[in-house]
Amino acid sequence: MKIPFIDLNLTHKEIEGQINQAIRRVIKRGDFILSRELELFEKEFARFCGVRYAIGVSSGTEALFLALLSLGIGRGDEVIIPDFTFIATALAVCYTGAKVVFVDIDERTYNIDINKIEKAITRYTKVIIPVHLYGQPAQMPQILKIARAYNLKVIEDAAQAHGARIKMPDGRWCMVGAIGDIGCFSFYPSKNLGALGDGGMVVTNNEVIYRKILSLRDYGRVSKYEHNILGFNARLDTLQAAILRVKLRKLNKWNRMRQRIADIYSDYLRNIEDIITPFLAPGVEHVYHIYAIRTRRRDDLVKALKKKGITTIIHYPIPLHLQKVFKYLNYKIGDFGISERVASEVLSLPMHPHLKINQIKFITDSIKRFTKSESYTK
Ligand SMILES: Cc1ncc(COP(=O)(O)O)c(C=O)c1O
Repeated sequence: MKIPFIDLNLTHKEIEGQINQAIRRVIKRGDFILSRELELFEKEFARFCGVRYAIGVSSGTEALFLALLSLGIGRGDEVIIPDFTFIATALAVCYTGAKVVFVDIDERTYNIDINKIEKAITRYTKVIIPVHLYGQPAQMPQILKIARAYNLKVIEDAAQAHGARIKMPDGRWCMVGAIGDIGCFSFYPSKNLGALGDGGMVVTNNEVIYRKILSLRDYGRVSKYEHNILGFNARLDTLQAAILRVKLRKLNKWNRMRQRIADIYSDYLRNIEDIITPFLAPGVEHVYHIYAIRTRRRDDLVKALKKKGITTIIHYPIPLHLQKVFKYLNYKIGDFGISERVASEVLSLPMHPHLKINQIKFITDSIKRFTKSESYTK
C-alpha cells in the first residue's frame, strides 16, 4: 500500500469551494498587500490564541527574527534554544548577530530540558526560545520562572504547535504562543495550519512590541515614504491571509483528528520491544504536528517501511550543535547526549488529519513484522 507522509490534497478537498471563493474575492478586490483581509485574519488568529495582537509576516523564520529584533537583540547578546529543533530557530538568532546557545533536551518530551537552562545562562543572556517540538508544549511555567529570576525574555517557537494548550499553575488552559513575551508561528504548507506558500505570525500582548514589529515587517515605515528604523519586506500577503482564514476555522477539528490518529498509533504500537511511542506530558494538549517513534534500528526500519510503500521522515537527523554551520561555536560530539541519541533514533510516521484507520493498521503491522523479523533480532 502506498502511503505518503502527508496528503494535503485530502485536506484541501474538504475546503476547496471556500478556498476558491477566498481567492476570487482577493483577485476581485485587488488589494494584495496589507489589506483588510490580512487585518481580519490577524484579529481572528489573535482571538484564537487568546492574545491582544497578531502580526502576519512572511514566514516562521521571519517571525522569530523580527521578534528578536523587536526586543533589541543583536551582537553581544546570547539567546538560549534547545539543541534539538529545526534549524530555523537557530538561524533567526544568528541573523541578529547574537550568539546562539544550545541546551540539551528532555529524554521523554524532546523539548528543552528545564533543569539544564540555568547552567547555560551568562551575563550576556537575553532571551530563551523554547520550541514546542512536534506539537507538544514545552514546560512554560518553569521556563517563565527561570526567565523572571534572571530578567530574560521568552519567545515561544510555536511553529509546529498551532492550537496546543498548557494547563497553567492557576488552572487556566493557555494556548502556546500566548504564554511568553512573544509567540511565533509558521504557516509552511505542511504545518497544522498551513498556507499555500510561505507565511508566519507573531503574537504578543505587548503594544510596544506589536508596533515595532508592524514597522519592522514593512520597511521600517512610519508613513508611506518615511522610514525610522531598518525594516524589511516581511509581510504576509493577502492571498495567504484569505486562505488561512478559511483553514483557521477547521484547525481545532483537524487537531482533534490528529490526536485521535496519534492515540490509535500508540495503541497499536504498545508494548513492542524497542519501539518508544510519544510521551504525553501531564497538563498539556499535544497537537501532533509530527508523530515520532523511537527505535535503535531506525535506519533499517526506514528501509523496511519504504519497501512496503510507506514514506517516513526523520525530524531531525543531526542535532544543531553538530551542524557544520555552527562549527565556529566549538561544540563537539558528546556535548548533548540526549539530543544526539534522540536524533539517531527518532522516526516520524505518516501523519495528517485524513489518515485512515486501515492505513494506520498497515503501517503499525509493518512495524510489528519488522521487529519480529530475523534480521531485527540478529
Ligand atoms: C520549530 C520550527 N521553527 C521555525 C520554523 C520556520 O518556519 P518557516 O519554514 O515558516 O520559516 C519551522 C518550520 O519550518 C519550525 O519547524
